[in-house]
Amino acid sequence: MTDYLMNAWYMGAWCNEVTEKPMSRRLLGVNTLFYRKTDGTVVALRDRCPHRFAPLSKGKVINDQIQCPYHGLVFDGTGQCVANPITSDTRIPEAVRVQRFPVVEQSNIVWFWPGDPAKCDTSPIPQFPYLSDNMTYKHVYGLTPVKAHFELETDNLMDLSHVDMVHPGFSGVFNKTSKYTAGRNGNTVFSNWVTTDAKNAPVMEQTSFPTNGAPIDQWLEMSWQPPGAMYLEVAVTRTGEPRSAGYSLKSVHILTPETEHDTHYFWSAAIYSHEHVPLDLFRAGFNNAFDFEDKPMIEAVAAEMGDEIDLLSMKPLLLRSDAGSVLARRVLKELIAKEKQEYYQYDRVG
Ligand code: FES
Ligand SMILES: [Fe+2]
Repeated sequence: MTDYLMNAWYMGAWCNEVTEKPMSRRLLGVNTLFYRKTDGTVVALRDRCPHRFAPLSKGKVINDQIQCPYHGLVFDGTGQCVANPITSDTRIPEAVRVQRFPVVEQSNIVWFWPGDPAKCDTSPIPQFPYLSDNMTYKHVYGLTPVKAHFELETDNLMDLSHVDMVHPGFSGVFNKTSKYTAGRNGNTVFSNWVTTDAKNAPVMEQTSFPTNGAPIDQWLEMSWQPPGAMYLEVAVTRTGEPRSAGYSLKSVHILTPETEHDTHYFWSAAIYSHEHVPLDLFRAGFNNAFDFEDKPMIEAVAAEMGDEIDLLSMKPLLLRSDAGSVLARRVLKELIAKEKQEYYQYDRVG
């Protein structure tokens, strides 16, 4: 069974997915209801009425409050029950409430905190300021459902040595000069490749950085923050030219468990505003890579593992290029162990 890190920020949605209409999403095994109030703020509640467990998301938002579709109890944005239309007794006990999740909107992302609200701390929210820079960049956004434990998707992203085999559009760059480094800085893990004097990738050649066959140098720099937020910068330049003279492609990859066997893979990538690459074509390229190239491979791995979700417990062969993904798994494990220890200490004292 998965132990999730609970006191942490997970991505619940892209901002534009949350409107004044209720939206339900299963997150860490819990159906979660999102809606936007008239002042623009986002509400996240457990999508289960405490009375007979009807999904509140099937109800209506009226005056910033959600009405259960079964017997009509009304809950406000804090989860407190504020009305019962079928009784003349207007006293509603304080205890009649739905679990509320703290929410922060930042750079187009709705983050939610599934753990103890008293421990909610906004400082570890991963920062991706380029996502809200609409002057410099044009962005595309996606959400790919993957039938696999979210750490298998983390492995895929933290080990980009699969690119040559799995992504023909980006293939052909790795060569004998390719150097890999991985490391940890606090709870952030990086996983980087540098390749020199390489063949340009077909996608770069045909779109943002054509070199007409001239060789390139490439930097692949992926960083991970717990529990599952990654930022990738792919930089290319003509061989021998400074990196600043070339091109860079930025993307974020954020994983939130739906269940222990299913993952919400949120992704976004950006081209520069002045580029003439059609945005639809750019979006389709990413969509194709994640939905039709990575996803089938990761799902096949998950299917092969069956009910087991802890890859390392199955003693896989580890290569040097696995260092980043193994480090990310280790950091997450440490954080979960620390959280459990704190919980039990508190429990004993309390
Ligand atoms: S199930 Fe919601 S009011 Fe009865
Ligand atoms: Fe991939």
